[in-house]
Order: sequence, then C-alpha cells, then structure tokens
Amino acid sequence: MKSTVDFIKMKKANEKIVMLTAYDYPSAKLAEEAGVDIILVGDSLGMVVLGYDSTIAVTTEDMIHHGSATRRGAKETFLVVDMPFGSYHGSADRTLTDAVRIFQQTGANALKLEGAGNVVDTIRLLTGTGIPIVAHLGLLPQSASVVGGYKVQGKTAEAAQQLIDDARACEAAGAFMIVLECIPYQLGEQVAAAVSIPIIGIGAGAGTDGQVLVYHDTVKYGSHHVPKFVEAFADVGTVIHEGLKKYVSSVKDGSFPAERHRFTMKEEELTALYG
Ligand code: KIV
Ligand code: NA
Repeated sequence: MKSTVDFIKMKKANEKIVMLTAYDYPSAKLAEEAGVDIILVGDSLGMVVLGYDSTIAVTTEDMIHHGSATRRGAKETFLVVDMPFGSYHGSADRTLTDAVRIFQQTGANALKLEGAGNVVDTIRLLTGTGIPIVAHLGLLPQSASVVGGYKVQGKTAEAAQQLIDDARACEAAGAFMIVLECIPYQLGEQVAAAVSIPIIGIGAGAGTDGQVLVYHDTVKYGSHHVPKFVEAFADVGTVIHEGLKKYVSSVKDGSFPAERHRFTMKEEELTALYG
C-alpha cells in the first residue's frame, strides 16, 4: 500500500499518478487489478450509480455504505473518500463527527473536500486530527449552482492567480494532494509548479502530476453526459447490453437453460415418488 509520502516522491520523480473512482466491490477489484495508484470514492456516486442529476443529494451514510464496499474490493490500494455536500460547512463539531465516521467506518486512507476559503481551516482541523486530506479546486460540483453550472474555471489572470493562491493555502493547511478540475491546461502546469504536493487533474491538461477519471466514463458504463475531457477506453455498456439481450432471447426461445445447467434426480427416487 502506498502512503501520502510516496505520492510526493512520485511527483518529484516525474512519475505520473493514476487515480480512478470506484463505488462498490467489483469496480474496486477491477481498478486494483488494473494497477491504479489511488481509488477515489467520489460523490459522483450520486450521478453515475444512484441516478441523481447532481452530487447534492449524496449523504454521509451513502459515502460510508459505498466507501466500505469499495474498501472490501481493494484492500491493497490507497483509498480516498469524498465528504459529501453539507457535511463539512457547519460547525467544527459536525464536520469532525462526519469526517471521523467516514474515515473509521470505510477504512479510507484519506478524505477529500471541495474548495478553499473557509474550507482551508477545515483542512487544518482534519489533518490536525490525523486524517490525511486531499483538496479539490477549480470546478467544484458541490457548488456548481452558485457559479451558474459546470464551467471551465480560472480562465482570467485574476481567477488563475486566485487558484494558485488557493492551492498554496491548501498545502500550507496540511493537504497532501489536490484534485484540480476543469481549468485551462496552462494553469494546470502553473499550479503543479507552484506547490510541492501532487496535483491530480481532471480536465486540467497533461501538465499535472497525475490524472483522475470517473470509472463509468472511462469504460462507458451507463454514463450519459460525457464531458470533453473524458476519454472512454472501453465500451462495456454495449457488451452488457448485448449480453442481456441474449439472455432474454435465450429464455424466450427455450435454448436456456440447457442440459448442462440442470440437476437430475435418481431413477429409484422418481419411482418411489410416483410408484
Ligand atoms: O466525485 C468525483 O468523482 C470527483 C472526481 C471527479 C475528482 O470528485
Ligand atoms: Na467529488
């Protein structure tokens, strides 16, 4: 199992870090077998697994339920779990209660929070408590409705400077890694150069220290709206669709189950039954 220190070494050595989301036992198992460095139980769970149209409805209970299933599928991989909407913006007590529950009950190695500003104090509080923290800057899905939707962030010099300052503040508060979402590639390079902790990009170009993608987007598994920055590396949706259609037609036409699927009762038992 890698540690937070290993990821900082990978950045120094220019070795790309691969993060992928997973949400349950089989997806975690396949992610681990593929050799990803970090599994993220993202609150994208809300969209790709639970069928909501944003991450807002996802609860701490949801993250514990799916985070612990993910851990059971990937015992050897560094596991990060998202804190969901509303679980870290109230009192320090509430934040600490939810963070400790998610961290303890899922067996995660770290938690992830969106934003800087007031969240910087929360990063300090949680790392001080002993919970490693991944920050998340750029496009922040949990507050997308405040900025008018899912848009590319940091396009002006002013916004870019703010983002660089925010990244430095997250590092100073104790975050060991930052996810950077949906920003110009030039800014991705700048942020990666401005801090000594690894920057994991999604829609942030090739100049970051690593990449993260959503599992279902990566293999085209029931994902609907796919952003420009996503590449589908397989099409399992079509494979599953074809397989399920075959199952339906095989039962309908009587070709399934076949002789090899059946169990047999001995002749004498049949005679005893019917006489
Ligand atoms: O929830 C999620 O999947 C994420 C990644 C897109 C970084 O936060
Ligand atoms: Na997320």
